[in-house]
Parts: sequence; C-alpha cells; structure tokens
Amino acid sequence: MDKKSVSYNSGHSSHQTMSGSQFQRFSRFIQSHLGIRMPGAKKTMLESRLNKRLRALGINGFKDYEKYLFSEKGQEKEIPQLIDVVTTNTTYFFREGQHFDLLSEVVLPEWWEQHSGEDRNFHIWSAGCSTGEEPYTLAIVLNEFAEKHPGFKFSVLGTDISNEVVQTAQRAVYPEEKVEEFSDRIKRKYLMRSKDKNVNKVRVVPEMRKQVQFRVLNFLDDFEIKKSMDAIFCRNVIIYFEKAIQEHLIQKLYRHLNPGGFLFIGHSETLAGLDVPLRLEKPTVYKKLT
Ligand SMILES: C[S@@+](CC[C@H](N)C(=O)[O-])C[C@H]1O[C@@H](n2cnc3c(N)ncnc32)[C@H](O)[C@@H]1O
Repeated sequence: MDKKSVSYNSGHSSHQTMSGSQFQRFSRFIQSHLGIRMPGAKKTMLESRLNKRLRALGINGFKDYEKYLFSEKGQEKEIPQLIDVVTTNTTYFFREGQHFDLLSEVVLPEWWEQHSGEDRNFHIWSAGCSTGEEPYTLAIVLNEFAEKHPGFKFSVLGTDISNEVVQTAQRAVYPEEKVEEFSDRIKRKYLMRSKDKNVNKVRVVPEMRKQVQFRVLNFLDDFEIKKSMDAIFCRNVIIYFEKAIQEHLIQKLYRHLNPGGFLFIGHSETLAGLDVPLRLEKPTVYKKLT
C-alpha cells in the first residue's frame, strides 16, 4: 500500500495523511481564496486540521476529500467549514494593551476635540475580529471614554472570514479564565455571570453587545463597508498573508479610513516596504493624513 495513503486506527479516531500533490492543491486553493500562506512546512498542521473535516464528513482519505472539496457541492458547502478549521483564531481581551491606552489617551481625546460639536459617531472596525474579544475590548474602552465625555457616541464593527468565530462573537459568552485579569470594577460593570454557579462562564452585558455589529467578511472579496472608519484594528492578521496580499488589504483598509484616522496592526507586524500613504505614529500604529 502507498505509504501516503495509509490510515492508522487508534480506537475511534484515525489519522489520514495527504500526498505532496494533494497538499499542493489544497495549499494553492487556501492561498488564493483566503490569502493565508501555506508553505510546505505547514503540511503536517494542515493535515491534522483537515483530519477533523474528514472525520466530521465520515470520509476515509484525502483522495475523497479532494474530490468533494472541488466538486460543485463541495465548493458551496465545504469552503466555510474549511475556513473554520484552517484559520488561526487566537485572541484575548486587552491583547497588546498599549494600543488601548493609546486609543483612550491620545486618539479619542484628539478626535473629540475636533468633533465634539458634531452629530456623528466615532466608528471603529475590528478587522479579523476572531471570537470577539478585540471588538468587545474596544466597546469597553470607548464606553469608559463616553462616560467621561457626555455626548460622545460610538459604534464598533467586527468582521471575520470564519462563520464559526463570528457566531461565537455574537453569543459573547466566554470561559471565566479569559476574563480573570479584568479588574473587579470592569467585571461587575461589563460581564454577567451564569445563574448556574457550576457554569464557569460569563457573558458580555447587553448594553455592550448592542454597540458591536458583526459580519462575515473575506478580505480577498470586493467588500463594501458603508461607514467610513475613524480607527481600524487589523491585528495579527496580515502576518498570515503574502506581501502582495498584505499590500492589497492595507490599501483597502486605507480607503475605509477617514482622513486623520488610525490603523493599528499587531506588534509583530509591519507595513515597512508596502506602498500605502500612512504615517507611522507609534510602533505598529499608523495615521491617514489626507
Ligand atoms: C489571530 S486572529 C486575530 C484576532 C484579533 N485581531 C487579535 O489580534 O487578537 C486572525 C483572524 O483573521 C481571520 N482571517 C484570516 N484570513 C482572513 C481573510 N481572508 N479575511 C478575513 N479574516 C481573515 C481569521 O479567521 C482569524 O480569526
């Protein structure tokens, strides 16, 4: 038997391996539809993530999975599932905390000074929001600012390519460990505990949930966002993309920013070498000038 198509059984679970050419085909597809780089070094990772799909579909090997994925039905039904397993969705509340400090100490006061007499909201977008921790952190920070600045109004948009994480974000229910570093004041104000004391979960309060709108959105599609943004958080997303896709995405985000608006990227990311007219204000924080 061909070593590449061996399946090993251990109890109920079996692990299937994919051939080099199957990997090439999946990885090309993932790069062109999701933007996510899939070099050869990621073969084992892709294999193990796709094994979940094989099990869920009751498919015995990658040959059948390949046939299904690239069939008409597969293209309609399987792509969202593939996206859910292939994307890396690690995130947490108040991640890279300096960004939220900069937002409340510099960006918001400056914006409020210029717009306080106007009837308009501060619009912010968490682009690649995963399970919602980033947009809800933004809602908390903005709400704290609003309480000190009567008349300040805001809205938060959270988008992600994965249906599954967007649904989790909309539910806004999190294990208690995810919020253990919140101060008691923030916990009391923004979180509800389950009535069942045995359930170690919390839910973001309805007042904050209604400030945040979620939407499934693939950066590679021709998308439109109706509102122009005053700030965009697109953190720990472009790191997974090739340079050409990074540049294309940043240009799209640029078009959705108001003049004077801010773009925040992740601490291990950079826009250096990309052709976008944004000025570096602080490490990983950029401003649109015109
Ligand atoms: C590591 S998470 C970052 C979450 C959050 N921004 C943070 O920094 O904590 C990256 C997110 O980008 C999303 N993503 C990957 N490719 C995407 C694409 N082509 N369009 C939209 N979102 C994408 C993934 O689904 C994932 O949830």
